[in-house]
Parts: sequence; structure tokens; C-alpha cells
Amino acid sequence: MTHTKPTFEDFLTWLAALRGRGMVHFDEHQRCWHVLGHPEVNAVLSDPARFSSDLSAMIAGQKDFELFGRGNFVRMDPPKHRKLRTLVSQAFTPKVVAGLEPRIAKLTEELLEPLGERFDVIDALAYPLPVIVIAELLGIPVTDRPLFRSWADVLFSQERDPDQAVDEIGDEVFAAVLPTMREMNAYFLDYIASRRTNPGTDLTSALVRAEVDGKRLTDEEIVGFAGLLLLAGHVTTTATLGNSLVTFAENPDATAEVRAEPSLLVPAIEEVLRMRTPFPRLGRRTVVAAEVGGATIPAGQFVIPWLSAANRDERVFADPDRFDIHRSPNPHVSFGHGIHFCLGAPLARLEARIALGRLLRRYRDIEIDPAEPVEHRSPWTMVAVTKLPLVVRVA
Ligand code: HEM
Repeated sequence: MTHTKPTFEDFLTWLAALRGRGMVHFDEHQRCWHVLGHPEVNAVLSDPARFSSDLSAMIAGQKDFELFGRGNFVRMDPPKHRKLRTLVSQAFTPKVVAGLEPRIAKLTEELLEPLGERFDVIDALAYPLPVIVIAELLGIPVTDRPLFRSWADVLFSQERDPDQAVDEIGDEVFAAVLPTMREMNAYFLDYIASRRTNPGTDLTSALVRAEVDGKRLTDEEIVGFAGLLLLAGHVTTTATLGNSLVTFAENPDATAEVRAEPSLLVPAIEEVLRMRTPFPRLGRRTVVAAEVGGATIPAGQFVIPWLSAANRDERVFADPDRFDIHRSPNPHVSFGHGIHFCLGAPLARLEARIALGRLLRRYRDIEIDPAEPVEHRSPWTMVAVTKLPLVVRVA
């Protein structure tokens, strides 16, 4: 791979070529199985007994990773997964989340208030809004958010050679992220200790009090929980806000329709999620030999269900490369599928609807500033812009 950063279009071209090799196929270079079709991806994600989320066997036993892994239920299988997920799921039901609407609306207004007619919308809104919301839920100091951002930047900015073997990537990536993992672990351990002596009404205090099978969670388990929620809870929503604005700028007719009929914002966000899938792919490991899409994957293999590819499967989405805000149904898999379906989906959708709705109402024109560069993450890791300079005109 050259050192010029591959674009989202390069990524889509690469993905289309990959699909050309079959909806389910073995990759000799990467030594993994790619799953690219919509029904095939759904089949993998709905079968945790054969496709495990526990990839620890493939990660050389790094202490920090293990520590972080203990409460990180996205990497767990039943029955432990269900027990831990149940503990936090109460905090994220659509009803509870709907109660956050006034707070999210107020935060959005506060963040937009000081802005002029030129600003980087990632710095000004797309990053701080979701991180403040999740930090408030967890009870961690919102003022530490530059720290969270520095962590997220390290963890989600790993450049990947798409053709490198999965088991080789490990060591390099781990070496790059280990100091950050250590810093995060130490931060959360301190914070949890302070909550044990001085509990509040936040989610972390609730986790400190919670029991699974009659036993309290250990500090290490809570570190995994908090880390998962803090990171999963903001980078993807930040990505979705930025991705929406990029897509709106590329599709002025659809945006004009949304402006004229604000209820179309909801399906427009779903269509952005489909086309610019924030997490392009997930990871699974076969526990036993498993048949999917006519191929048999042996036991112990690394499997990559490509959400980005499933979301453009023309057997399910007519004219899949077209941004169509009237697409109905829109069964995209950007929030995953099955037992690990994103716990934060109602929150992410609410934040996106409020933030984008306020932006469209406040500004009659929103353009990407042609004088400033737009920056993005590697789309193989995450589909997201990290700098999005805008020029706006107040309505
Ligand atoms: C647009 C924004 C978001 C996207 C695209 C997204 C995507 C995903 C995906 C694809 C998964 C499934 C992972 C797997 O099966 O291996 C997932 C799981 C999860 N997400 Fe999200 N997410 C978003 C926002 C959020 C937010 C705001 C939160 C927290 C407040 C959150 C918390 C979680 C958690 C805790 C899990 C693990 C669920 C489980 O394993 O049972 N996510 N997310």
C-alpha cells in the first residue's frame, strides 16, 4: 500500500473487488474468511454458538487487553454476555433514552451558540455532543474529554494494509495502542475506586452496586464496561454526524427535501448509516465447522462479516450506491444483528436526529469549506471524517 491515504471511494472499489471473489471466501493473504452478502452476514451474526465473538484466542495474552476484556461484553458469548448486557441495558431502553432529549437539545444549542459562519463541525459539535452525553451517563468528569478524544484517536486511527494477514496485524497494532490502553485502564480504576467510596446516581455507581449470580462486579470488569460504553458511545455517533453532513453536501436535492419535510430526517439518517457504515466490519471466530452461503468454514478460523458490503448487497437494496431517503424498508446492518445488536442504537439515533435537525434549522446554507482540507480516518478501520470545515449562513 502506498502512503497516500486511501479514500472512501478506494475502499468501496476494494470492497467490490472482494465481493467479486464470492460472498463467502477464504483470503490467503489475510488468512481469514470474508463474508460479504447481506443474508450471509446476518447468518453469521445470528449464530453465536458457531461464530463466537470471543477473539481472545487470537490475541496474544496481553495483560492490558485481558483487563480491558473482562467487562467488555461485546467480545463475549452466552451465557456471560447476556448477564453483563442485562446489567446496563436498562440504561439504554428507547424510553429511558427518550428522556434525554431535552438535555441533548440544550447541549446542542450551547455548542452551536458561540459559533460564527466558519467552523470545523467535528470539533464544534460532532465530537463533543456524544462524548458529553455518555460521560454524563457514566458520571465521569466531562472536563476530561480532551483525554477521551486522544484515546479514541489512537484506538481508531490505526492505518491498515487491507491485504495484510490478520494474525500479523496483531503485534503492530497492539504495540501502537498498548500505552493508551494502560492509560485508560488506570484512569477508570481510579475513578471506580472513587465511586466505591463516594457513590452517585450515575451508571458507574450502579455498576459498582450491581451483582451477577450473587457476586459484585470486580473493578476490572467495570473498567471493561465503562471503556466499552465510553468509546462505543461516542466515536460512532461522531462519525455518523460527520458522515451525514458529507452525504447531505453530496446530495443537495435530497437535503432540500429534508429541509422542506423535516420528518424525512429520520430515514435520511438511516440511509447515511447504510451507505457510510461507521464500523465497516466485525470479527468472529468459528467454534466448529460452519456452513454459510454455500461455503464451509472450518473450526478455529477468523471470520470478517463486512457490514459495509452487506449494506450494498443489490439482492436486498435496489440501486445500492444511490442515496435514497425514501428507501423502505431499509434493513441495513450498521448496528449489527442478533444478540450483540448495538445497545446504543436508540441513543445514537436520537443524538443524530436532534443535532442534525438543529443544524438544518439554524443554518439556511451549509457547505463544506472549499478553502480547508477535509480529513478522514482509514475507512478499513472506521468510516468517518475527523475534520469537516463548514461555511454556513444563519437562517
Ligand atoms: C451510529 C452510532 C453507532 C454505531 C454505528 C454502532 C455500531 C455497533 C455495532 C455494529 C455493534 C455490534 C458489534 C458486534 O456484533 O460485534 C455495536 C455494539 C454495541 N454498541 Fe454500538 N454503535 C453506535 C453507537 C453506540 C452508542 C451511542 C453506544 C452507547 C451508549 C453504543 C454501545 C454499544 C454496546 C455496549 C455494544 C455491545 C452490545 C453487545 O455486545 O451486546 N453504541 N454497536
